[in-house]
Amino acid sequence: MLWGLSALAYLLGSVSSAIIVCRLMGLGDPREAGSGNPGATNVLRIGGERGKLAAAITLLGDLLKGLVAVLAARWAGLEGWQLGVVGFAAFLGHLYPLFFGFRGGKGVATFLGVLFGLNPLMGLAFAVIWLFVAKVLKISSAAALAASALSPLYVWWLSGQDQALTAVITLMAVLLWWRHRSNIVRLLRGEEKAPTQSR
Ligand code: G3P
Repeated sequence: MLWGLSALAYLLGSVSSAIIVCRLMGLGDPREAGSGNPGATNVLRIGGERGKLAAAITLLGDLLKGLVAVLAARWAGLEGWQLGVVGFAAFLGHLYPLFFGFRGGKGVATFLGVLFGLNPLMGLAFAVIWLFVAKVLKISSAAALAASALSPLYVWWLSGQDQALTAVITLMAVLLWWRHRSNIVRLLRGEEKAPTQSR
Protein backbone atom coordinates (compact mmCIF):
# COMPACT_ATOMS: atom_id res chain seq x y z
CA MET A 1 0.00 0.00 0.00
CA LEU A 2 2.68 2.53 1.04
CA TRP A 3 4.86 1.92 -2.00
CA GLY A 4 1.94 1.74 -4.45
CA LEU A 5 0.59 5.07 -3.20
CA SER A 6 4.10 6.56 -3.26
CA ALA A 7 4.49 5.52 -6.91
CA LEU A 8 1.15 7.18 -7.76
CA ALA A 9 2.15 10.28 -5.78
CA TYR A 10 5.43 10.46 -7.71
CA LEU A 11 3.48 10.39 -10.99
CA LEU A 12 1.13 13.11 -9.73
CA GLY A 13 4.11 15.21 -8.64
CA SER A 14 5.61 14.76 -12.11
CA VAL A 15 2.83 16.86 -13.64
CA SER A 16 4.52 20.27 -13.89
CA SER A 17 1.93 23.01 -13.39
CA ALA A 18 4.31 25.74 -14.58
CA ILE A 19 5.06 24.06 -17.91
CA ILE A 20 1.40 23.22 -18.58
CA VAL A 21 0.09 26.66 -17.53
CA CYS A 22 2.72 28.47 -19.62
CA ARG A 23 1.93 26.29 -22.64
CA LEU A 24 -1.83 26.84 -22.31
CA MET A 25 -1.39 30.61 -21.84
CA GLY A 26 1.15 30.94 -24.64
CA LEU A 27 3.94 32.08 -22.30
CA GLY A 28 6.62 29.77 -23.69
CA ASP A 29 8.70 27.32 -21.68
CA PRO A 30 9.58 28.48 -18.14
CA ARG A 31 12.68 26.25 -18.31
CA GLU A 32 14.06 28.39 -21.12
CA ALA A 33 13.35 31.87 -19.70
CA GLY A 34 14.06 33.88 -16.54
CA SER A 35 15.67 31.70 -13.89
CA GLY A 36 14.83 28.58 -15.93
CA ASN A 37 12.85 27.20 -13.00
CA PRO A 38 9.42 25.73 -13.71
CA GLY A 39 7.81 27.29 -10.64
CA ALA A 40 5.37 30.05 -9.69
CA THR A 41 8.07 32.67 -9.06
CA ASN A 42 9.55 32.27 -12.51
CA VAL A 43 6.12 32.20 -14.15
CA LEU A 44 5.45 35.55 -12.44
CA ARG A 45 8.82 36.77 -13.70
CA ILE A 46 8.30 35.78 -17.35
CA GLY A 47 4.51 36.11 -17.59
CA GLY A 48 4.26 39.83 -18.35
CA GLU A 49 0.71 41.19 -18.01
CA ARG A 50 -0.73 37.75 -17.27
CA GLY A 51 2.11 36.79 -14.94
CA LYS A 52 0.15 37.15 -11.70
CA LEU A 53 -2.72 34.96 -12.91
CA ALA A 54 -0.39 32.36 -14.41
CA ALA A 55 1.74 32.29 -11.23
CA ALA A 56 -1.33 31.93 -9.00
CA ILE A 57 -2.60 28.96 -11.03
CA THR A 58 0.88 27.42 -11.01
CA LEU A 59 1.19 27.87 -7.26
CA LEU A 60 -2.23 26.31 -6.68
CA GLY A 61 -1.53 23.39 -9.03
CA ASP A 62 1.81 22.58 -7.43
CA LEU A 63 0.41 22.94 -3.92
CA LEU A 64 -2.50 20.63 -4.74
CA LYS A 65 -0.10 17.86 -5.84
CA GLY A 66 1.36 17.61 -2.33
CA LEU A 67 -1.98 18.14 -0.61
CA VAL A 68 -3.91 15.57 -2.67
CA ALA A 69 -1.15 12.95 -2.32
CA VAL A 70 -1.16 13.20 1.48
CA LEU A 71 -4.96 13.39 1.79
CA ALA A 72 -5.36 10.34 -0.48
CA ALA A 73 -2.85 8.43 1.64
CA ARG A 74 -4.74 9.39 4.80
CA TRP A 75 -8.01 8.32 3.19
CA ALA A 76 -6.39 4.97 2.35
CA GLY A 77 -5.59 4.46 6.02
CA LEU A 78 -1.95 5.53 6.30
CA GLU A 79 -0.78 7.58 9.29
CA GLY A 80 2.18 9.52 10.67
CA TRP A 81 5.52 9.15 8.90
CA GLN A 82 3.93 7.06 6.15
CA LEU A 83 1.89 10.10 5.11
CA GLY A 84 5.19 11.97 4.99
CA VAL A 85 6.69 9.33 2.69
CA VAL A 86 3.79 9.62 0.21
CA GLY A 87 4.11 13.43 0.33
CA PHE A 88 7.85 13.07 -0.19
CA ALA A 89 7.16 11.01 -3.34
CA ALA A 90 4.95 13.79 -4.77
CA PHE A 91 7.66 16.32 -3.90
CA LEU A 92 10.28 14.14 -5.62
CA GLY A 93 8.06 13.95 -8.72
CA HIS A 94 7.92 17.74 -8.80
CA LEU A 95 11.72 18.02 -8.51
CA TYR A 96 12.51 15.22 -10.99
CA PRO A 97 9.39 14.77 -13.18
CA LEU A 98 9.09 11.62 -15.25
CA PHE A 99 7.03 13.47 -17.87
CA PHE A 100 9.42 16.40 -18.38
CA GLY A 101 12.86 14.86 -18.75
CA PHE A 102 13.45 14.90 -14.97
CA ARG A 103 13.90 18.70 -15.18
CA GLY A 104 11.56 19.92 -12.50
CA GLY A 105 11.13 22.76 -10.04
CA LYS A 106 12.48 23.64 -6.62
CA GLY A 107 9.59 22.19 -4.67
CA VAL A 108 8.35 25.11 -2.56
CA ALA A 109 4.61 24.96 -3.37
CA THR A 110 4.50 21.15 -3.28
CA PHE A 111 6.33 21.17 0.07
CA LEU A 112 3.67 23.57 1.35
CA GLY A 113 0.89 21.31 0.06
CA VAL A 114 2.40 18.30 1.85
CA LEU A 115 2.56 20.28 5.10
CA PHE A 116 -1.07 21.38 4.75
CA GLY A 117 -2.07 17.75 4.15
CA LEU A 118 -0.19 16.56 7.24
CA ASN A 119 -1.56 19.28 9.50
CA PRO A 120 -3.02 22.66 8.46
CA LEU A 121 -1.04 24.32 11.28
CA MET A 122 2.21 23.09 9.70
CA GLY A 123 1.19 24.65 6.39
CA LEU A 124 0.23 27.82 8.20
CA ALA A 125 3.61 27.95 9.98
CA PHE A 126 5.40 27.66 6.61
CA ALA A 127 3.13 30.30 5.02
CA VAL A 128 3.55 32.79 7.89
CA ILE A 129 7.36 32.51 7.83
CA TRP A 130 7.38 32.71 4.01
CA LEU A 131 5.14 35.82 4.00
CA PHE A 132 7.16 37.53 6.74
CA VAL A 133 10.53 37.04 5.01
CA ALA A 134 9.06 37.88 1.59
CA LYS A 135 7.58 41.11 3.00
CA VAL A 136 10.88 42.13 4.61
CA LEU A 137 13.35 41.04 1.90
CA LYS A 138 11.06 40.92 -1.18
CA ILE A 139 12.93 37.79 -2.32
CA SER A 140 10.96 34.59 -2.93
CA SER A 141 13.92 32.20 -2.61
CA ALA A 142 15.00 33.64 0.77
CA ALA A 143 11.44 33.25 2.04
CA ALA A 144 11.31 29.60 0.91
CA LEU A 145 14.73 28.84 2.39
CA ALA A 146 13.77 30.32 5.77
CA ALA A 147 10.35 28.61 5.91
CA SER A 148 11.82 25.23 4.99
CA ALA A 149 14.87 25.57 7.28
CA LEU A 150 12.56 25.98 10.27
CA SER A 151 10.23 23.16 9.18
CA PRO A 152 11.94 20.43 11.29
CA LEU A 153 11.21 22.53 14.38
CA TYR A 154 7.53 23.23 13.80
CA VAL A 155 6.81 19.78 12.33
CA TRP A 156 8.44 18.13 15.36
CA TRP A 157 6.46 20.31 17.72
CA LEU A 158 3.08 20.15 15.93
CA SER A 159 3.32 16.39 15.31
CA GLY A 160 3.78 15.63 19.00
CA GLN A 161 7.52 14.96 18.62
CA ASP A 162 7.09 12.39 15.82
CA GLN A 163 10.76 11.75 15.03
CA ALA A 164 10.18 9.66 11.90
CA LEU A 165 7.88 12.25 10.32
CA THR A 166 10.30 15.03 11.29
CA ALA A 167 13.11 13.08 9.60
CA VAL A 168 11.12 12.78 6.35
CA ILE A 169 10.31 16.52 6.36
CA THR A 170 13.95 17.37 7.17
CA LEU A 171 15.06 15.33 4.16
CA MET A 172 12.60 17.27 1.99
CA ALA A 173 13.93 20.57 3.36
CA VAL A 174 17.51 19.49 2.58
CA LEU A 175 16.49 18.63 -0.99
CA LEU A 176 14.69 21.97 -1.32
CA TRP A 177 17.90 23.75 -0.23
CA TRP A 178 19.90 21.64 -2.71
CA ARG A 179 17.57 22.73 -5.52
CA HIS A 180 18.04 26.36 -4.44
CA ARG A 181 21.85 26.20 -4.51
CA SER A 182 22.19 28.76 -7.31
CA ASN A 183 19.80 31.07 -5.41
CA ILE A 184 21.91 30.60 -2.25
CA VAL A 185 25.08 31.63 -4.12
CA ARG A 186 23.30 34.75 -5.44
CA LEU A 187 21.90 35.54 -1.99
CA LEU A 188 25.38 35.31 -0.46
CA ARG A 189 26.72 37.61 -3.18
CA GLY A 190 23.82 40.03 -2.72
CA GLU A 191 22.75 39.43 -6.33
CA GLU A 192 19.40 37.69 -5.82
CA LYS A 193 16.53 39.79 -7.14
CA ALA A 194 12.80 40.12 -6.57
CA PRO A 195 10.68 38.29 -9.19
CA THR A 196 9.59 41.66 -10.59
CA GLN A 197 13.20 42.53 -11.48
CA SER A 198 14.75 40.92 -14.53
CA ARG A 199 17.53 38.41 -13.98
O1 G3P B 1 9.83 28.74 -5.83
C1 G3P B 1 11.14 28.84 -6.23
C2 G3P B 1 11.72 30.11 -5.69
O2 G3P B 1 12.04 29.93 -4.32
C3 G3P B 1 12.90 30.59 -6.45
O3 G3P B 1 12.60 30.61 -7.80
O4 G3P B 1 12.82 31.35 -10.12
O5 G3P B 1 13.69 32.80 -8.27
O6 G3P B 1 14.85 30.66 -8.84
P1 G3P B 1 13.54 31.37 -8.81
